[in-house]
Amino acid sequence: MPNLNGVELAKEVHLIDNTIPVIIMTGYPSMDHAIETLKNGVVDFLTKPIKMDQLLHTLHRVMRERSLFIDNILLKEEAKKNEKLRLINQELQQKIGEVETINLILQKLNQVTSSKDLFDILVNLSGEVTDCDEAHFFVCDHEMADHAIISSFCRDHCDAVADAQSIEKSIIKRVMDEKMPFLVKRGEKKGSVMAIPFTIRSNVFGVLTSIVHNGRSCFNEKDLYFSNFLAEKASSLIENLALYENIYENLFSTLYAFVETIEARDPYTKQHSTRVSRYAIAIAKAMDRSQEEIAELNVSGNLHDIGKIGIPDHILLKPDKLTEDEYEFIKKHPVIGSNIVGHLGMWMDERKIIRHHHERWDGHGYPDRLKGDEIPLLSRILAVADVYDALTSDRSYRKKLAEEVAVKTIGENMGSQFDPEIAGVFLRIHSQGQIVS
Ligand SMILES: [Fe+2]
Repeated sequence: MPNLNGVELAKEVHLIDNTIPVIIMTGYPSMDHAIETLKNGVVDFLTKPIKMDQLLHTLHRVMRERSLFIDNILLKEEAKKNEKLRLINQELQQKIGEVETINLILQKLNQVTSSKDLFDILVNLSGEVTDCDEAHFFVCDHEMADHAIISSFCRDHCDAVADAQSIEKSIIKRVMDEKMPFLVKRGEKKGSVMAIPFTIRSNVFGVLTSIVHNGRSCFNEKDLYFSNFLAEKASSLIENLALYENIYENLFSTLYAFVETIEARDPYTKQHSTRVSRYAIAIAKAMDRSQEEIAELNVSGNLHDIGKIGIPDHILLKPDKLTEDEYEFIKKHPVIGSNIVGHLGMWMDERKIIRHHHERWDGHGYPDRLKGDEIPLLSRILAVADVYDALTSDRSYRKKLAEEVAVKTIGENMGSQFDPEIAGVFLRIHSQGQIVS
């Protein structure tokens, strides 16, 4: 061979691809030579002179062995890939689980509309997310250095609150002081406790404690992470709700002060709005309306005549019959009222209720001459309550009517002025003594 001998060629081939089987044919067989060739990746060697059938046989064998060798390498690589894939899949499943938990927390918190429901949702969520046996929410009083449970969750029926009271005061106190989550094993037969602070502007106002009983696995880092996430989201939600409820209350008080001003101008209508909302709520309750609708009636009942703020005294307090123009002026009050309330961007339902409280079932009311079901249900309820109170109280232009006359008037106007079903409910609860003027 030119330039290289057989062994050197075998070395070169081996460097290019070590899976290529090399067979050496030699005319000088010796043990040393055989060892030297095998060291260099030669799989077999044949001694000259070569017999063709022997060469063929060796070639077949070597190729078969190579094919097995390659298969083996491929299988190993495949197994490695599969293992990698399995690990990635496992990690992915774990991440999906985490995202689902985060979603669950956000979704449940999103449904909260008042701070009243929030604490029950919080302890239940803690039960669901950390799989604890009990969860309790403590509100903290820094001045008194005290705390009290306001909401509890218990997986199986157990004396949860009594047990929670026995949680070492030091745990709550430590969380309140350090403003850091706390994970503690409570020793033999007591399981473990996780306590998470709830803060608003770095003041701890509450602590969520989750407990696992003895015999069950303890909390892990993930439980701590999710509980912290829950605390963080819920704290800002509480802050927003508190602000909203505060603004809502303030706004209502401000607007109600306007109503009181109007009623103070006209001694005959004193407390009219309060009574109207009381009667309307009684009717709504008898009709099994929702809590939300009752709350809406409370706002719209109290504010229904707020639009009268713009009506001058000489019209509002006129003892004689109103002129047509004066009456037209008075008729603007539902629209003015709904605009005042609507400007605030909240109470959109209440706005409609106020606008339509002078509509009539037969379509001859104002301002939009709506008819029957076109009139919002709560406006129809308010209309009955409003007229009943007007009839049973003194007005600048007439004395109050006797109770039975007022009731008779409502009955006579069923189906014309009033929704017959609502007027029917009113008459029924009135006869049962549930409407007291
Ligand atoms: Fe009115």
